[in-house]
Amino acid sequence: MQEKPVRLAIIGCGGIANAHLRGYQTLVEKGVDTFSIDATCDVRKESAEDFKNKIAEFQGSAPRVYADVEEMLKAEDLNAADICTSHSHHHITAIPCLESGVNIMTEKPFGITIKASQKMIEVAEQHGLITAAAENCRRYPGQRAVRWALNEGNLIGKPRMFFAQSAGWQDPANIGNWHWRLDKLLSGGGMVMDSGAHMMDTVRYFFGDVEKVYAEVRQIDKRMTKHKEKGVIPDCHEDTWVAVITFKSGVIGTWSWTKAAPAHSFLNVAFYGSEGVIRDRGDVFHPFVFQEDGDLEKLDGTKMTIKELKATYMATLSEAEKERLFPFGIEDGFTLEVYDFINAVKNKRSPEVDGETGLLAKANSIAIYESGYCGEAVRIADVLSGKVNAYQREIDEYWGL
Ligand SMILES: NC(=O)c1ccc[n+]([C@@H]2O[C@H](COP(=O)([O-])OP(=O)(O)OC[C@H]3O[C@@H](n4cnc5c(N)ncnc54)[C@H](O)[C@@H]3O)[C@@H](O)[C@H]2O)c1
Repeated sequence: MQEKPVRLAIIGCGGIANAHLRGYQTLVEKGVDTFSIDATCDVRKESAEDFKNKIAEFQGSAPRVYADVEEMLKAEDLNAADICTSHSHHHITAIPCLESGVNIMTEKPFGITIKASQKMIEVAEQHGLITAAAENCRRYPGQRAVRWALNEGNLIGKPRMFFAQSAGWQDPANIGNWHWRLDKLLSGGGMVMDSGAHMMDTVRYFFGDVEKVYAEVRQIDKRMTKHKEKGVIPDCHEDTWVAVITFKSGVIGTWSWTKAAPAHSFLNVAFYGSEGVIRDRGDVFHPFVFQEDGDLEKLDGTKMTIKELKATYMATLSEAEKERLFPFGIEDGFTLEVYDFINAVKNKRSPEVDGETGLLAKANSIAIYESGYCGEAVRIADVLSGKVNAYQREIDEYWGL
């Protein structure tokens, strides 16, 4: 069989890698024949075996299975790796790939710290390779439409501010058993940079670069974090934060979230321009699709649902733009992100969300932690230069960064 232009490994065959796998399957079903999944790799070899079997069913040939990245790199002729490990192992698995000539895409957050993220970009540049951050949220039509409405479409006037607030109650009697996500050295932090990584990419995508951040980050209810082996960990990640975000454009926003708010829950996500508002009734972290009951309302009385906004936006796209943003009519963000990565590797071009873009989203989350840690407002430039790094220091030291 002739070698494909893109020869891929999936590293980390756990929860979210299944969404990537469904994306690859969709592409094969659409007739995309520019890639092959040649290897699966997971320290839990049974997970890599399970992926092998699933891939064999839709690909017609089985990838080889590994429990160790270095061993895989020695044995295979790869040029792409899709990394879906825990956060600590994004850079640990990416760097040997890059040093072996393999382009990489890592799940969000791009790296566990700023230094880890910068290291991946540096090694890729030394080898002339591509880095991508797997950011699916911005690729859904709802989020594309809202970005267009706030910018080129000028549907609600000049962007002014946003409020993204979620308060809820997690019954301590029913908390799930978490794992690596509760260990700062493996995760890098809690929801500010886990699911929150999406929100921090979204606001950059809508409003451009952030200038500075002030945040309070707390674990208010000490019963909220239960590790599957260690039990409840009282001083672990945040269950609450309140952040004020200032953009270089002058836009301001507040982002707050808690699961320590008893008896009254609410969600309020609103993006304001000088002439109106766009309300999302989805999820403060996962604006995957901008729920269709979200809406836009203007001072002049204009009203439209998110569904109508999507249709308006889609009607503005040329056939070439539609083919670029929603090839084959695909609207699933995971399928679109893996397809962008494959095409970037094949055509030796930057993906839409490259390592640098992943780093800048990451810097927004890290600035929230650094501000919470030092009690002062923090500039993104200082987070990126390493001048402000007290929160991250123990992680960097632990991983030798
Ligand atoms: N885009 C999204 O919506 C989304 C949703 C959930 C998770 N994620 C991200 O996906 C990544 C994985 O999260 P998850 O929930 O799937 O975690 P998970 O624990 O379910 O899966 C991680 C897998 O990586 C494997 N692994 C760890 N170290 C490894 C190594 N050195 N080599 C090979 N395999 C290794 C683990 O054994 C496990 O199977 C994280 O970065 C997370 O933030 C993204």
